[in-house]
Amino acid sequence: MQYAFQAQEAASQSASAVVRDPMISIRGLSKSYGGHKANDNISLDIFPNEVIALVGDNGAGKSTFIKMISGVIRPTSGSISIGGRKVDMTSPNDARANGIETLHQNLSLVDVFNVQENIFMGRELQRKILGMVPSLDHAEMRRRTVDLFKQLGLKTPDLNKAVRALSGGQRQAVGIARLLLENDLKLIIMDEPMAALGVEESRLVVELIMRLRERGYSVLIISHNLDHVFQVADRIAVMKNGRMIGAVERNKVEHDDVVSMIVGGRIPERLAS
Ligand SMILES: Nc1ncnc2c1ncn2[C@@H]1O[C@H](COP(=O)(O)OP(=O)(O)O)[C@@H](O)[C@H]1O
Ligand SMILES: [Mg+2]
Repeated sequence: MQYAFQAQEAASQSASAVVRDPMISIRGLSKSYGGHKANDNISLDIFPNEVIALVGDNGAGKSTFIKMISGVIRPTSGSISIGGRKVDMTSPNDARANGIETLHQNLSLVDVFNVQENIFMGRELQRKILGMVPSLDHAEMRRRTVDLFKQLGLKTPDLNKAVRALSGGQRQAVGIARLLLENDLKLIIMDEPMAALGVEESRLVVELIMRLRERGYSVLIISHNLDHVFQVADRIAVMKNGRMIGAVERNKVEHDDVVSMIVGGRIPERLAS
């Protein structure tokens, strides 16, 4: 019996629950605006290779939470630790230096630039030929762009096309490929990446997220679409009225459980322990 119990316990541990150090550890994070607590005492660990979906009604505090993790706003109180070390992030650059990148809804792409121009925007590779003014190394940027798409398991789009000519899913891929150029990237935060996409295109983004997880990255994704959430997430973190109701393992919950957490603000009794 003892063995059976242990085996069952082991089997019930998802990859995310295996004992290891979190990539990021958030403790007691709060943000007040005047007397209003946009985030109230939020704690959450995110592990390497883990996809967490953050869900909750409008005004629940999701954006406030990710803004604190991505260095856009500073917490009123609480702590964020990365690799076991407390960090004080005062800007998105600080977050970047800590391996955190945010893919914003507009993807920060320049529509009239082509794929590789977008990917290398602001960090163009240069080539110096002896005695000459440095010039852009288009060949190398092209080679690396093809390589990035290969890493994402995607067919490389026509690199000469302006990105406005690409599909929504391909544009997401360009936005993500851009982030992968960061050396120490650990956590990718995505705010409603499928919001404006059709079924096929959303599936592509789901696959992209799977690929990011396979490559060892952590992903924190905000989504209103529970179908997508159930497709990509290892754990589902539910917020309501500025509080974290709980982060539950996807394999242990049904749609209805998550809906009742969002609406009722309580973890289903059988999961609370
Ligand atoms: N800059 C701000 N100033 C005042 N109140 C804010 C600000 N940002 C967010 N809030 C409030 O904090 C709460 C949480 O907002 P938000 O984090 O945007 O929620 P969500 O992203 O889940 O919709 C809301 O009540 C919102 O009105
Ligand atoms: Mg929001």
